[in-house]
Amino acid sequence: MTESPDRAGKSRPSTPSLWPAGFAAGIVLVLIGLVTSWIVVGVGAAIAVLSALLWVTSSSRDLRDEDEILAHTDALEAEAAAGAAPAPAPKKELPRYGRNVFLERATLGLGGVVGAAVTAPIVGFAVVPAFVGQKEEQVNLGPLDNFPEGKWVIAHFLYEPFEPQSVGRRTAYIRNNGFVDNVPSLTILSNRCVHLGCPVQPSGPVDENATSIETEPGQSVEIIGAQPSNFSCPCHGGSYDLEGNRVAGPPVRALDRYRYLIADGNLVLEGRFSVSTVEGEGADAKIKAYRLYPPGTHVDGPDQWMYPFTS
Ligand code: FES
Repeated sequence: MTESPDRAGKSRPSTPSLWPAGFAAGIVLVLIGLVTSWIVVGVGAAIAVLSALLWVTSSSRDLRDEDEILAHTDALEAEAAAGAAPAPAPKKELPRYGRNVFLERATLGLGGVVGAAVTAPIVGFAVVPAFVGQKEEQVNLGPLDNFPEGKWVIAHFLYEPFEPQSVGRRTAYIRNNGFVDNVPSLTILSNRCVHLGCPVQPSGPVDENATSIETEPGQSVEIIGAQPSNFSCPCHGGSYDLEGNRVAGPPVRALDRYRYLIADGNLVLEGRFSVSTVEGEGADAKIKAYRLYPPGTHVDGPDQWMYPFTS
């Protein structure tokens, strides 16, 4: 609550308002929404904008009222000085803005500008990387012929060529579903468990011999045949079927999948996406796909609202 001096130089409190609190609550919701949901961002932005508008409107109404009182009082005083009937006493307190009010508001304004200048880069560095620069590299896994139709293959590759093996090694489980309308269909599952991220393993025989090919400079791809009956996680007993659907344990959704394309006869991975469930199998599967979420995150249904901060 700010105060303004009246004609006698005394302080006069301005009308209290809840709109600043509403504006602050809206900004807080926007920041929370940047981490959790765009819907929360929209609600927060709407509250902040509405509160700001009402705040400005109520403040300017106060000023208008006070200006009208001053003008009325000045007119009465002028009449009195000219010899007319004695001026009646003013009905309200007569505020007047002096240098101290100007300094107070200038200080608040400058403080806001400085605060924004300091906060914006910090918030930007903390939040923006979550939304930009996240494009995963394309990974060339080599000729499509290395992925026989109807068979599962384990592919080990580097996320980025020349990365140390211990850092950039990734694994995908790949099944060639054959051609659909002359376009190859593949099921490509990430091995990252969607509970806490442990490496999921195929349950079933795995070939002893691996085929290694260098698909491009620095990118060595290792391909191993397998006959899984499902996939299981060694950490907490999570279990998934051959479409990646969760069938047991603590995982909260189906296994993430890789997007892919065929370029010059080569299978190229384009990055991962998250999946809630898969209906059907192979080329006929209906996949409920979402952008990539961290392990432990519900991507749809009521659970995504009940557990917005799980990660
Ligand atoms: Fe896979 Fe917990 S990390 S079940």
